[in-house]
Amino acid sequence: MNFTLAAFMAPTFDQTTYHNAPSNQDVFSWPDFNRAAWLIRSGQALQVGLAPFTAPSAHQILVRNGAVAVNPVEWTKQLVEKRMFPWIKCPFVLGNDCAGEVVQVGAMVTHFKVGDRVLAHALSMDQAVNRSSEGAFQNYTVIRDNMAAVIPEWLSYEEACVIPLSLSTAATALFGQDFLCLHHPGVPRGTGPDWLPEVVLVWGGSTSIGNNAIQLAAAAGYEVITTCSPRNFEYVTGLGALAVFDYRNPLTIQQIVDLMEYKKVVGAIAIGNDSAEACIEVLRRTKGGSKFVARVDIPFPFPEQKPSTSFQLFRAIAASMRSSLKIWKKSKKCGVKTKLISGTSAAHTEVGAMVYNHFLPGALATGVFVAAPKPRVVGKGLERIQTALNCHMRGVSAQKVVVSL
Ligand SMILES: NC(=O)c1ccc[n+]([C@@H]2O[C@H](COP(=O)([O-])OP(=O)(O)OC[C@H]3O[C@@H](n4cnc5c(N)ncnc54)[C@H](OP(=O)(O)O)[C@@H]3O)[C@@H](O)[C@H]2O)c1
Repeated sequence: MNFTLAAFMAPTFDQTTYHNAPSNQDVFSWPDFNRAAWLIRSGQALQVGLAPFTAPSAHQILVRNGAVAVNPVEWTKQLVEKRMFPWIKCPFVLGNDCAGEVVQVGAMVTHFKVGDRVLAHALSMDQAVNRSSEGAFQNYTVIRDNMAAVIPEWLSYEEACVIPLSLSTAATALFGQDFLCLHHPGVPRGTGPDWLPEVVLVWGGSTSIGNNAIQLAAAAGYEVITTCSPRNFEYVTGLGALAVFDYRNPLTIQQIVDLMEYKKVVGAIAIGNDSAEACIEVLRRTKGGSKFVARVDIPFPFPEQKPSTSFQLFRAIAASMRSSLKIWKKSKKCGVKTKLISGTSAAHTEVGAMVYNHFLPGALATGVFVAAPKPRVVGKGLERIQTALNCHMRGVSAQKVVVSL
C-alpha cells in the first residue's frame, strides 16, 4: 500500500484511497468510513485521520468498535518510541483493548457471526503482527478469532473493553506452559489423602491485570493471596481473593509466608514496582512448592518520575536496567526462577482460544467472571483517546480509563 501521511490526514473521505475495501456494501452502511487515532511521532499527541479498511482474512473478524480502553504500554510507547517495540514504524495505530460489533467474518471463522457483540484483544503492537489494521484506536479493527469473546447483552462496550490485554496477560501468567502452567478453569481435579489447598500469590491485585488474575485463578480452583492499598482490600476480596495485604507494609512478606504454611504454593505473579523482589522473597522463605515468579512489568519508575526530556528518559531507562539486574541477581541467589510475560503472546499459544473462546463467554454470562476494574469514561470519539492516555499516565487505582466511540 502506498499511503502518504497527507492521505491519512485528509479531512474528507476519498474512496479511491482505500485498498482492501470490503466488496459487500451491506456490511458498511454508506457513507461510513474508517478513522484512526494515529501515532505520528514519539512525544506527540495522537492525531485523528482517515485509515484504510482491511478485510479480515480466514481466521479474523472485523469489529466496529463501540469503546476502547487505554493501557500503560500505549503511553509508554508514545513517550519512548524507538526504545520500546522497535519494530513499530510510525505512523501507526496503537491500542490493545476494544469492544464492539462484528461486521465481517473470515471464511474459516466458526465462533462469530455478523452482529455479535464482542470484546477483543487487538494485536497491532505484537512483533509477529505489527500492523496498524489490527490496532484498537480506530473505528474498525481486524481481530484474530482466538482473541475475541461474545459478551452478554447487558454488558456495555465501555464495561467490556476493560478486559482484553489484562486478561491475556493474567491468563498467560497463570496457564502459559512457560509460566505457572496451572490447571485451566473448569478442569476437575482429584483430592487424594495428601491433598493440600493450592495457593497462588498475585502481588498487585488492584491493578487491572491483578483483577483478572484473581478471578481466573479462583475460577480454576486456586486460593489467591494478594496485595494492594488498604482502600482496595474489600474490592479485591470481592473478586475472589482469600486474603489481602498492604504492599507498602514491611511485615507483609512474612505474613504471607505464614499464611502459606500447610498449603501447596503453585507460584507467584509480580505486578508493580518492587513486586518481583517481594515475590522472590516470599517463595524463598516458603517451604516446598513452586519457585517460579511470572513477571508482568519491567521495573520502570512510573508514574512518580515521568520522563519529559531525553536526559530524564535516559536516566529512567538506566534505573530500569539497574533494577532488572538486581532482580536477576536476587532470583539466582534465592533459587527462584522469574520470567517476563508478553500479554500478546496468548494469541500464539493455546491460552488465547482457551480463555476467549471457551472460558469467557460462559463465565461472563453466569457471573463467574466480571468485567473489572470499573471503567472511567473520559469522553466520546477518537479525539478523546489522547485525553485517556494522559489521564492514565497521571495514575489510576482499581480503574480503567475508557473512551466511547
Ligand atoms: N507484560 C505485559 O504484557 C504487560 C501487559 C499489560 C501491562 N503490563 C504492565 O503491568 C503493570 C500493570 O498494568 P495495569 O494496566 O494492570 O496497571 P494499572 O491498573 O494501571 O495499575 C494501577 C494500580 O497499580 C497498583 N500499584 C501501584 N504500585 C504498586 C506496587 N508497587 N505494588 C503493587 N501494586 C501497585 C495500584 O494499587 P493501589 O491503588 O491499590 O495502591 C493501582 O491500583 C504496568 O507496569 C504495565 O506496564 C505489562
